[in-house]
Amino acid sequence: MIKIQVINGPNLNLLGIREPDIYGTLTLKEINAMLRKKGDELNMHLDFFQSNHEGDIIDKIQDCYGKMDGIVINPGAYTHYSIAIRDAIAAVGIIAVEVHLSDINSREDFRKISVIKSVCVKQIWGKGADSYTEALEVIANKVSEGKSTDL
Ligand code: DQA
Repeated sequence: MIKIQVINGPNLNLLGIREPDIYGTLTLKEINAMLRKKGDELNMHLDFFQSNHEGDIIDKIQDCYGKMDGIVINPGAYTHYSIAIRDAIAAVGIIAVEVHLSDINSREDFRKISVIKSVCVKQIWGKGADSYTEALEVIANKVSEGKSTDL
């Protein structure tokens, strides 16, 4: 069983009511239910965490050390400037995928910059909830690649 921590940053608790033209109409609860289903197909156990606070997100990433095989993270606005979240992901050395619901590359210039990207195996954006499900597939593939090279 592959263990995955799903982390959502600031304002993602407001999905469903938050700028639906940009982020869609699904709530975070509904997205998590979709992920739970996908996780079952991929033989993954998923834990979900959302916080509006940078330090709490860092604590959660640190807590993954030795416990989780992968992290799926939508850092929200922290994507664009939180070196501390970046450093936490680098510190624990766990496979991480950065996800975004919206197409961050076709919005304001400041959204094109991610300080998180370089410590993740992949950045997925612009696919709504499917950005998250694709991230689970990426981690499943990476974990199985890792296992076959161990042989
Ligand atoms: C977001 C994109 C960020 O720029 C924004 O601050 C968010 C959500 C996304 O999922 O598209 O909060 O990460």
